[in-house]
Amino acid sequence: MVFAAVLAGGIGSRMGNIDTPKQYLELGGKPVIVHTVEKLFVNDRIDEIIVLCPKSWVAHTKALVEANLPAGKKVSVIEGGETRNGTLENAIKFIEQNYDVDDDTVILTHDAVRPFLTHRIIGDNIDAALEYGAADTVIPATDTIVESGDGKIISSIPNRNSMYQGQTPQTFRLKLLEQVLGELTEEEKGTLTDACKIFTIKNRPVYMVEGELFNIKITYPYDMKVAATLLKGKDSDD
Ligand code: CTP
Repeated sequence: MVFAAVLAGGIGSRMGNIDTPKQYLELGGKPVIVHTVEKLFVNDRIDEIIVLCPKSWVAHTKALVEANLPAGKKVSVIEGGETRNGTLENAIKFIEQNYDVDDDTVILTHDAVRPFLTHRIIGDNIDAALEYGAADTVIPATDTIVESGDGKIISSIPNRNSMYQGQTPQTFRLKLLEQVLGELTEEEKGTLTDACKIFTIKNRPVYMVEGELFNIKITYPYDMKVAATLLKGKDSDD
């Protein structure tokens, strides 16, 4: 069984409009999160969807799901966590409590604020998670990445040819993800904010799935303008 967990538990502080988290802002006539959930809803390989959002937005999100999605695939709306990893842990708990998990159970996790996900990316993620246990979506870095420990002086400039930018989905065999999360110390839990990073630190392979330049994350107000332009040129079969 393949679950999609839509991570919508953040408040979008960099967007500057924290009364309405960015996942609920309108893009082409419907909220960003509806675009994202719709894409997962129509994908044949995904069996069920879990949307995780801030507690005070659960009722609103349920209403959005009811108003915008037809019957046919179960979409559960539950509370997210304090951190992105906390939200992921809530998704895992929900699945464990409500379903029979086996070795082939897969969880595809995706940022609610990346509405331009494609079916090719979803399929490649599921295939890679089944084969390697964990998959991350990346694109080759276009800008040179510069590292600095103190924010003033450059400490290194890694070779751009081996640099990538991480996107989502990040997809895992659920049992393996639970096992790797279970190996973390409390201190590691506080510092490791990315599930794929946890795998690499624990020397577990994470397969790289090719993302898309347009699979952007809406982070700043400028990104909403870019998203509106992208939406106009978009092919709905992507
Ligand atoms: N997210 C989540 N639970 C959290 C924090 C973030 O599910 N506790 C989700 C966000 O809702 C978003 C995705 O993770 O869909 C990517 O995170 P980011 O862009 O950092 O979102 P925010 O935390 O909302 O934004 P900001 O960092 O500007 O506050």
